[in-house]
Amino acid sequence: MPKTLTYKLIASHLLDGDLEAGKEVCLKINQTLTQDSTGTMVYLQLEALDVDKLATDLSVAYIDHNMLQAGFENADDHAFIQSAAEKYGLIFSKPGGGICHQVHLERFGRPGATLIGSDSHTPTAGGLGSLAIGAGGLDVAVAMAKGFYFLTLPKVYEVYLKGSLKANCNAKDVILTVLQKLSVKGGVGYIMEYTGPGVQNLSVPDRATICNMGAELGATSSIFPSDQVTRDFLRAHHREGDFLELGPDPGASYDARLEIDLSAIEPMVAKPHSPDAVVPVAEIDSLKVDQVAIGSCTNSSYADLMAVAQILKGHRVHPDVSLVISPGSANVLKMLAENGALATMIASGARILESACGPCIGMGQAPKSKGISLRTFNRNFKGRSGTKDAQIYLVSPQTAASSAIKGYLTPGQEVDPSSLSSYDHVNDYFIYPKEKDQRRKDLAMGPNIKPFPLNDPLEDQIQKRVLLKVQDNVTTDDIVPSHAGLLPYRSNIPHLAHYAFTTLVDDFYDRAKKNNGGFILAGDNYGQGSSREHAALVPLYLGVKAVLAKSFARIHRSNLINSGILPLTFADPASYDLVDPEDELLLDNLHEGLAKGQILAFNKTKGLAFSLEFKGSPRELAILLAGGNLNYSKHLEV
Ligand code: F3S
Repeated sequence: MPKTLTYKLIASHLLDGDLEAGKEVCLKINQTLTQDSTGTMVYLQLEALDVDKLATDLSVAYIDHNMLQAGFENADDHAFIQSAAEKYGLIFSKPGGGICHQVHLERFGRPGATLIGSDSHTPTAGGLGSLAIGAGGLDVAVAMAKGFYFLTLPKVYEVYLKGSLKANCNAKDVILTVLQKLSVKGGVGYIMEYTGPGVQNLSVPDRATICNMGAELGATSSIFPSDQVTRDFLRAHHREGDFLELGPDPGASYDARLEIDLSAIEPMVAKPHSPDAVVPVAEIDSLKVDQVAIGSCTNSSYADLMAVAQILKGHRVHPDVSLVISPGSANVLKMLAENGALATMIASGARILESACGPCIGMGQAPKSKGISLRTFNRNFKGRSGTKDAQIYLVSPQTAASSAIKGYLTPGQEVDPSSLSSYDHVNDYFIYPKEKDQRRKDLAMGPNIKPFPLNDPLEDQIQKRVLLKVQDNVTTDDIVPSHAGLLPYRSNIPHLAHYAFTTLVDDFYDRAKKNNGGFILAGDNYGQGSSREHAALVPLYLGVKAVLAKSFARIHRSNLINSGILPLTFADPASYDLVDPEDELLLDNLHEGLAKGQILAFNKTKGLAFSLEFKGSPRELAILLAGGNLNYSKHLEV
């Protein structure tokens, strides 16, 4: 049967399982990437996995997120990650080297490779024909240690492109159009595969912009074929040897299809506060702008910034606008400096930031209160900019630059696309691994780096008190707050533990310590919101053994399982009312009960019993019995 490009790559990396959407498969992973915000935890996990040698072809540790060094914490994290890279043989990209996805595209992404990264925009490398997926930190650690990754196979969504973009439009306008049509849920359960004659009219950085914001569609990944355009890009980046021609089999059939005529696309804008609140820029009249921010892993390529320089040339940024520009990589910044584009930007009144995520992750440049900010980024959720009542609009670099001059939102001007036959590729921000016998043996564990909490294999009986009873829709933010003051403590679970559930109660930490751990009782949709692993690791550290809920949010449920915390649901939701905080519960005969999916719970305080359920795959059961994914994966071979 003719296959989609997606399924061809899955088939060529299949270690275990059947090629059937909805089924779990085990894939061989060629490359991994981490950024510093998630990376500290990944390398603590890698350390706990006790590996001798990486199982991937290439793994890169980037520093691009938490770049402020107002205290020692972020600097400690950077030093720790560098030491882990030197110990395990990863490439280390120093602070200032650039944004992980942009640098990976320029330097390491490879057609036909599988890549997983502990960052949701990892699919950016799909622009080069990599099968690239954002994953949890532990999955990335396991991929480095063992070379595999378990994935529930998504369906494949064909996005058929024809025509070519107008000179005032950018790939950003394409993906904003797709978001307008499909919404932020439109890609859930799918990999987006781009096909059709329009593909050849998009450069690799254009394709990467489109794949980058596939994450905003909710898609597992996005991918373009690898063709002559890909070959030219790789040649210009001095690595034509990585080229491999790739595409779907003729006649491959897809699970869903969308057709886009690139020639019909107009400059688009996503209004606050969702990336799918998209309308043509021309529909918004007289929107005065306070800030314009250009950069991020979505739109910080050489071509994007050259388009910005073309528009700024000979003009002055409007007196009421603060224009900030973060080039995507040190190489892009160097090329802009050498060809005069940087001088053009500075002459216009732009503020030049270092090559990093910067304002995209709320590290500086928060807009003024109630400020209107146009950004070339991928997310405009409320508060993400650092200013709660700011209004963030997502636009292309052309629209951003044109608006910065005018002082109000205006469609992008026409530009001549710039492409080079040879890009700068000398980068002194990389530290390459040494030969194995010359590698570092220790890790730089500054006071902000605390060991990863480990669990024990599951006992057959647990008798503990209920530490907390919460309502429906508790978020991962409620479990572990993520405000800016706590960001530097991502590698310090004991510190974060003091803040557990503080949005709901004052004394959870004390209760957990006094009772030596216990249970959490919850309503529906427990653990919704961000996917952060800390929302399971902090409860693990505090001795939480099980969460008894009416229902769970999907990703948090799997993070609980990875930590070895039982996610159990009430067989009868009314049982929720039979238990109060501080009640003592006994969960007996757990091993057999979990295997059968039915567990009997005794409320010793009230003298009554009720039923709990566990609905999980055999692998999830094995992870729980082992006391978490680290213990489970340590000795696993596929
Ligand atoms: Fe960084 Fe923002 Fe991308 S935080 S990795 S630039 S989404």
